Amino acid sequence: MRRVDVCGLDEIAPGTMRMAWVDGTEPVLVANVDGDIRAVSGVCTHEYFELDTGFLQGRNVTCSLHLSRFDLLTGKALEPPATDPLEVYPVSIEGGRVVIEFPG
Ligand code: FES
Repeated sequence: MRRVDVCGLDEIAPGTMRMAWVDGTEPVLVANVDGDIRAVSGVCTHEYFELDTGFLQGRNVTCSLHLSRFDLLTGKALEPPATDPLEVYPVSIEGGRVVIEFPG
């Protein structure tokens, strides 16, 4: 595991999300769930489709391609066609920055 600065806290208002690219190649979806910052793998587990184009509702994100829904706290797939979970990365806020624990 390594610690990666993915964005500023002021870059994700409550109820919004954005994609961060770790090393320029690894997509991580960072979401502000009512002030609680969450980070998960940024690609749907059904097919390759980036989740920042989806819909954030409460603690869930819905993929805009086939409407699978995922829980951002657990990564669990809540609605098919996706069945595999998203990876969940631990988050800490340090000096106004969002820092995640990322594999590798
Ligand atoms: S690509 Fe996300 S539900 Fe199919």
